[in-house]
Amino acid sequence: MPANWTTYRELLLPASNGRRAVEFELRRAVRDGRLAPGTRLPSSRDLAAQLGVARGTVTSAYAQLIGEGYLTARRGSGTTVTAGVTWPGAAAPEAEPAPKFRYDLKPGVPALSAFPRDEWSHAQKTALADLSNDDLGYPDPAGFGPLRRELADYLGRVRAVAARPSEVVVTNGAAEGISLLGRVLHATGHRSVAVEEPSHFGAAEMLASHGLAIRPIPVDPDGLRVDVLSTTDCRAVFVTAAHQFPLGVVLHPSRRRALLEWARACDGLVVEDDYDAEHRYDRPALGAMQALDPSRVVYQGSASKVLAPALRLGWLVPPPALRDAVVERKRLDDLGTGTLHQAAFARLLSTGGYDRHLRRTRQLYRARRDALLESLRDVLPEWEPIGVAAGLHVVVRLPAGTDDMALQERLARRGLNAPALAQYARTPTFPGLVLGYAALTPDRLREAVRELRAAV
Ligand SMILES: Cc1ncc(COP(=O)(O)O)c(C=O)c1O
Repeated sequence: MPANWTTYRELLLPASNGRRAVEFELRRAVRDGRLAPGTRLPSSRDLAAQLGVARGTVTSAYAQLIGEGYLTARRGSGTTVTAGVTWPGAAAPEAEPAPKFRYDLKPGVPALSAFPRDEWSHAQKTALADLSNDDLGYPDPAGFGPLRRELADYLGRVRAVAARPSEVVVTNGAAEGISLLGRVLHATGHRSVAVEEPSHFGAAEMLASHGLAIRPIPVDPDGLRVDVLSTTDCRAVFVTAAHQFPLGVVLHPSRRRALLEWARACDGLVVEDDYDAEHRYDRPALGAMQALDPSRVVYQGSASKVLAPALRLGWLVPPPALRDAVVERKRLDDLGTGTLHQAAFARLLSTGGYDRHLRRTRQLYRARRDALLESLRDVLPEWEPIGVAAGLHVVVRLPAGTDDMALQERLARRGLNAPALAQYARTPTFPGLVLGYAALTPDRLREAVRELRAAV
């Protein structure tokens, strides 16, 4: 008896061998849970045809099992497996998903309700129509050619990245880029990497899983402390220069220069995670650091903060000396990212849909950020927002002595998700909350701030 089945013939295999067997096998399938409560069964004519038995065999089996209570017949909706009954042997019902927060301020998520569904569907449809049969074969592990051309153009135009199409590598989100780089670094002799402190723990965990020791380097109002970095054994550093995650500060131009000098002096590498640089509200963001020394900087980007994390689309521009090793690693991992998504994304870029979406969401997020900060100023003036006007989140510094983890828990009990800064820090320097505002309307944000007030 198969545990997985796709046709009733597979499910009730022995039933096609004898008349009483239909009833027996159906009962068994209901009792052991392969036919779940509420499942609508095929019509007797259809099932008889599937099993190769007479229709009467099925109608009498259905009648018997209706009589026994396993099945229910309702006029107009056919025969279903009786709902609301757990048969012995059936798999235990899955646990209910944890209740959603009433106000979810977790950082790093764009307004998913603003995803340009129509434009994406159109891009998908037209891109698919233009793909050749050959395009449907195994992809180039470095990425779909037309997307790499569009990305090289977009990154040059919007982020001042110096990249030719052949230098762009498409990945499954920035996450895969980090993982590829972790292994390439390890394979080329690196045993430790520096990360910002505080920072996104996921990236450090991923790097550590590839055998690299993690060296946290403090961040101050001018960004990463390059002077501290130079005292470590590291020759590679991951940095969010345009908008430090989570603190929201920008790497000062003098620090950028110092970082590149450090990389040249130790034959090192800077990974520039440009995860949300397009979202700057007060002035254009500084161009990417990568262009200042493409031989020392890996540029890394992602569609997760602009469109949606579900796309799993990211990109790397590694220095020429690393490019082949990165692509070979990607080939050995998965033979390349799916072409259909890449082609749709290329289309969205080439038609200006990505730029239009960015213009729309920049306005949206700016209004949301303003509403949050205004409301905080009115209601919780002792909380101090830090960082530049950018991105999808803001860190608020809490009064000295506040236990931010305890506050986070208290807020969660009130249905509000607002992560403590301590969640991102190995050695917390001040208490804070990391408040993502992109997904909530201004009214909802104002309500959330009133809840924050009530919780403190
Ligand atoms: C600092 C940072 N970099 C990159 C990413 C993007 O990751 P991905 O493209 O895999 O979704 C995130 C998402 O949370 C992030 O916070």
